[in-house]
Amino acid sequence: MVERKVAVIVGSLRKASLSRRMAHALIKLAPPNLKFSIVEIRDLSLYDEDAESAGPPASWVAFRDAVRASDAVLFVTPEYNRSVPGALKNAIDVGSRPYGQSVWSKKPCAIVSVSPGALGGFGANHHLRQSLVFLDMPVLQQPEAYVGGAAALLADDDSITTEGATKFLSGLTTAFADLIERVLAKSP
Ligand code: FNR
Repeated sequence: MVERKVAVIVGSLRKASLSRRMAHALIKLAPPNLKFSIVEIRDLSLYDEDAESAGPPASWVAFRDAVRASDAVLFVTPEYNRSVPGALKNAIDVGSRPYGQSVWSKKPCAIVSVSPGALGGFGANHHLRQSLVFLDMPVLQQPEAYVGGAAALLADDDSITTEGATKFLSGLTTAFADLIERVLAKSP
């Protein structure tokens, strides 16, 4: 199968982030033609149109280049106050500008929300989905992934501890690979 480059955006800045660990678990479970690289959002300064006009910061340019060079995007994020963490929203805003040059446009994507709690980040997942629809990204519709109780699902080596979750998350990566092929087949 043709190799596809997937940019992984992790919504948490925390070293021991469950979302980051879940991203590593997903990478291990995914079809081998998907080549993942985590694109870091930590160093992106807050989006400011004045900074854009003055000549965008190097961190924005590098981030935009990295996403632009990918075929698809995987978002793995925690929920903060029933929405996405500010750092992730900022990364989305940075990638969406200058107007008419969004790096997100038409890129197939998938969302996995992650929480130690029971609801699995449903609010973050859907707030993120709202932005991605506006940004014209074909978002994986099914399966939806609201990963609750994430601490118990992750082993020390970031593999998944239960057979059920392994099967579900592996199926998700396969569905994502299928979406990528469907979307890229139709691209000019
Ligand atoms: C949280 N947390 C949280 N959890 C949740 O399920 N729904 C929520 O709305 C929130 N809100 C929230 C706000 C803020 C500011 C923080 C710092 C945390 C808890 C959160 O899920 C938990 O800290 C995760 O471990 C964060 O994800 P990472 O860093 O482990 O990926």
